[in-house]
Amino acid sequence: MVTLTIDGKEVTVPQGTTILEAARSVDIRIPTLCYHDRLNPIGSCRMCVVEIEGYTHPMAACTTPVDDGIEVVTKSDRLTRIRQDSLKLILVNHPLDCPVCDKGGECLLQDLTYEFGIDQVEYKAAKVERESQYATPLIRYWPDRCIMCLRCVTACQEIKGIGAISIQGDGYGAQVVAVDAEKCQSCGECLQVCPTGALTEDLSRYKGRTWLVDRVPTTCTYCGCGCQLELNVQNDRVIAVTTREGVGVNHGSLCVKGRFGYEFINSDERLTKPLIKKNGKFEEASWDEALDLVASKFSAIKEEHGPGALAGLTSARCTNEENYLFQKFMRAAVGTNNVDHCARL
Ligand code: FES
Repeated sequence: MVTLTIDGKEVTVPQGTTILEAARSVDIRIPTLCYHDRLNPIGSCRMCVVEIEGYTHPMAACTTPVDDGIEVVTKSDRLTRIRQDSLKLILVNHPLDCPVCDKGGECLLQDLTYEFGIDQVEYKAAKVERESQYATPLIRYWPDRCIMCLRCVTACQEIKGIGAISIQGDGYGAQVVAVDAEKCQSCGECLQVCPTGALTEDLSRYKGRTWLVDRVPTTCTYCGCGCQLELNVQNDRVIAVTTREGVGVNHGSLCVKGRFGYEFINSDERLTKPLIKKNGKFEEASWDEALDLVASKFSAIKEEHGPGALAGLTSARCTNEENYLFQKFMRAAVGTNNVDHCARL
């Protein structure tokens, strides 16, 4: 174990812990921008700089491991100036289009700009026009909003193990590109970790502001993994799906279906009433009518051929409880063990 002091507080942590982790373990907040709990430290933004007694230059807390006896300071006028300068350099070419940015209201860059009181940027840099080289039908990349934190590239590699995107170019001309577009599954992990509005969902643009939606926690219905997500609801319509970092078995990740496959919920083409085929044509029916028909057909088949002539196929899109009830129904009510599940097909 290693003992150090942070802002005068003695902290003992295992060897190899970073200064940032040590500070968090005793509730000392160090501002961060590129750091993400689920990724290896990237060290690209310099917002987390701290001073260490005896060291001339401030160090990045997210990438610097603790050392026995060091004295760390996380707040000082000098550190505030460095953090303000880092933000100003990031903002040199970042458009202030927060009113029309989908990330407005939950943008880490916006929050830090507010926290550090940046109301003007005196630095100037030539404007480089960049065309998006990375976009899928579901994900949109806004090169001008990108702060090159590399969270998206790291998440694609480390969380999804895909490595479909990377950085191309350098300086202000650098941007995220799909280096292996074939591999991209549009899972949205990149936009999930993006701290700004550089990566946004293309399905829900301009449909609702963050602070106007109700986020209803629920379980994804696409398979049996049980991933946790939030349906973003406005005016009784689902306009987006988001997740909470670290929540559920998925820890905030989703696949393309869970993150983007929600439009069926409010689709006008969705069947909301049972249909019964009469004279070769489907006609709307009441639930009682439909259930009576199914029950009578089941009974007729069972009477004529025995319960073994019936089989039930249930679904990974149902809950465990519904699947349990279904097999119970087949076994106890119908009298057959012919029960299977789509996940085995
Ligand atoms: S948070 Fe440490 S360098 Fe970005």
